[in-house]
Amino acid sequence: MNQANIKDLLSKIKTFPSMPATGAKMLKMLENPETTVDEIEDVLRHDPGLTGNVLKLANSAYFGIPAKVASTRQAVLLLGLRKLIQLVIASCVNAVMDKPVPGYNLPPGDLWRHSIAVSIAAEALVKDSHNVESEDIFTPALLHDIGKLILGHFIKEAQEDIDKIASSGVPYAVAEQMVLGTDHAEVGAQVLTQWSFPQEVIDAVRWHHGPDSPDRKAAAVDIVYLANLLCQTADDAENADRQETDLSPAVVERLGLDIGQFDDVKTRVAEWVDELAEALTFN
Ligand SMILES: [Fe+2]
Ligand SMILES: [Fe+2]
Repeated sequence: MNQANIKDLLSKIKTFPSMPATGAKMLKMLENPETTVDEIEDVLRHDPGLTGNVLKLANSAYFGIPAKVASTRQAVLLLGLRKLIQLVIASCVNAVMDKPVPGYNLPPGDLWRHSIAVSIAAEALVKDSHNVESEDIFTPALLHDIGKLILGHFIKEAQEDIDKIASSGVPYAVAEQMVLGTDHAEVGAQVLTQWSFPQEVIDAVRWHHGPDSPDRKAAAVDIVYLANLLCQTADDAENADRQETDLSPAVVERLGLDIGQFDDVKTRVAEWVDELAEALTFN
């Protein structure tokens, strides 16, 4: 891909659909420790469709709430404020992400399902890790591959070249860099920057294929990297997200995890991915 094409690609990012207004407001609330339930209720009141989606999600067995959640206020009480905001954001990005991605041989819904699987794995890893307290991991994990939505439109013509390089054992994101001059992780980070996501979310997306980069800072980077690796299916290894095959030992050490725990994480993903994918699909 020549420089002109890269420029064209970056201009496409500038015209990428904007984050729905409610999602943008919620992001601001997530950053503000003083946010109250009343403020969240105020925003959601104007968006009954979204409220319905969020309640459907809150009632999913994945979140393990025994009582039926019937109102925003109740959802905040039972799930906590941060979790509720994360679910609202997830509802907002669903519309953008549940689409076929032309260039990566990804059928409709596949990227969304993979993203949900990585979110489940990421939450399980946070729970298992001795070194990570509590991390708002759901959102960065859900969004980690969002750059593929953009690159997918360009990668078609470059797919053969990227595949050829990747088939010689080069990680997929590196092959993208070699052919396109950028990769889906960087493009995703740029989209989220435009959407004014918090810096931790942007960083976790930017470094999800390069957790040992000297620029990475937060534990969220390690978690999303590892969760993504654990959620690679045999199919991915063949095409869409072929990447590092060796786990970074530094990441495992930083997180205070034991490789023996990873099978449990995979089991948890298998157990919940259908449930959560169903809860996160809105008509
Ligand atoms: Fe990726
Ligand atoms: Fe991925």
